[in-house]
Amino acid sequence: MTHADTVLDLIGRTPLVRLNRLVDPATMATVLVKMEQLNPGGSVKDRMAVNMIRRAEEAGLIKPGATIVESTSGNTGLGLAMTCAVRGYRCVFTIPDKMSKEKIDMLKAYGAEVIITRTDLDHDHPESYVQVAKRIARETPGAFYTDQYENMTNPEAHYLTTGPEIWEDTDGKIDALVGGIGTGGTISGSAKYLREQAAKAGRELKVICPDPEGSIYKDMLEKGTHEPPSIYRVEGIGHDFMVGTLDFGVIDEVRNVSDKDSFITARRLAREEGIFCGGSTGTAVFGALEVARELGPGKLVVCILCDSGDRYLSKCFDDDWMKDMGYLGATERLGTVREVMQFKDRHVEFAQPDETLVTVAHRMNQFGISQMPVARTNGDGFFMIHESDLLQSLVDGRCAPSDTAVAVAKPMQGIVSLDDPLSRVQRIFDEDNIAVVVENDVVTGIISKIDVVEFLAARS
Ligand SMILES: Cc1ncc(COP(=O)(O)O)c(C=O)c1O
Repeated sequence: MTHADTVLDLIGRTPLVRLNRLVDPATMATVLVKMEQLNPGGSVKDRMAVNMIRRAEEAGLIKPGATIVESTSGNTGLGLAMTCAVRGYRCVFTIPDKMSKEKIDMLKAYGAEVIITRTDLDHDHPESYVQVAKRIARETPGAFYTDQYENMTNPEAHYLTTGPEIWEDTDGKIDALVGGIGTGGTISGSAKYLREQAAKAGRELKVICPDPEGSIYKDMLEKGTHEPPSIYRVEGIGHDFMVGTLDFGVIDEVRNVSDKDSFITARRLAREEGIFCGGSTGTAVFGALEVARELGPGKLVVCILCDSGDRYLSKCFDDDWMKDMGYLGATERLGTVREVMQFKDRHVEFAQPDETLVTVAHRMNQFGISQMPVARTNGDGFFMIHESDLLQSLVDGRCAPSDTAVAVAKPMQGIVSLDDPLSRVQRIFDEDNIAVVVENDVVTGIISKIDVVEFLAARS
């Protein structure tokens, strides 16, 4: 009979999954994502939560009937609450009010007591979530403050499990590790182990941490000092003070990512890869895609995902919230290129490369169009003839009507794919171009402003 003794035995050994639709194999490295949202508590924090409790029990710091206290952005609390439910401890968590309602409700569902504090307080303010938690631990008999920001059994959990799993599941062929920094436990522990193995194997390993704009970590890594932190909406990563569990010695680079890019990427991950995770995963994946472009084909990037998207249904997965926050322009709610194409005639008039300008002009007039893509031969790039260039070249005598199309053709702008949101088409129109739909390297549609107007009018 095979079974786990407790749900805690299901923590770890999470799989790696390759990204397909977000990665262009022709220009980018392979990206494998570590599915930490599949841990039983729904996040990467389960690993350190159970390890902090086990180590404290081993050290005799926790006795039966103890009260576990922690300051958390939610996920550490969920990992601890799950562990306390199994181990029979009471648990009390402080959490800033910027965190999602779903997280607070889930903590209570595990039986935790939750104290919500203000987000906009400095970390040493007596009413900040860290200081309130410390005070509760001091004032509660039999309490143990796990202190995830200074507790070295946090990164130890990832040195003992996450790192080895990644090395084993990539057969040691990893070129870059990408992951966020909250306490820094995940990335510091994993990177320490992977660097040791890579050194033994004589391999290079890059460790890159995408971090929210407004967090201090990039400045601290680069300068050792930091600008005043500012509030950002991504949850669980970034910070406004330095923590003991973060080891900059194993990190090559911290790069900033905007809240908008993080949330949009998290939504794309769900809609284009079927992987449902939160905003901080969006931050990590946004960075991982950048790194994959920089490294190019033949290299391997591993990105550590953080938590499940079910905690953010009222946030980045809610169109109204995204719109209200200005991350989702009105147009994004209005559909995709595919929807417009389903609505309009897909016929495209091409100019032949050797067709004379006079016949091209004649056909443009005949079809009432002012641009024409040039038919491609032997894998040439994408080119377009614009009425304005045609006119200009004849007026200033650079071309004669008998010259061929290629004489005035320009590299094509405004290429979109079917799943691109209409906001992208809007930006192309703002650059005074039409949108050209390319599927599998073939021009399959042209979208003009009037096409979108008609689509929107019909849909409304
Ligand atoms: C959603 C989310 N992402 C990422 C992290 C970062 O993990 P770590 O604290 O190990 O750096 C956290 C940590 O709480 C988190 O909650």
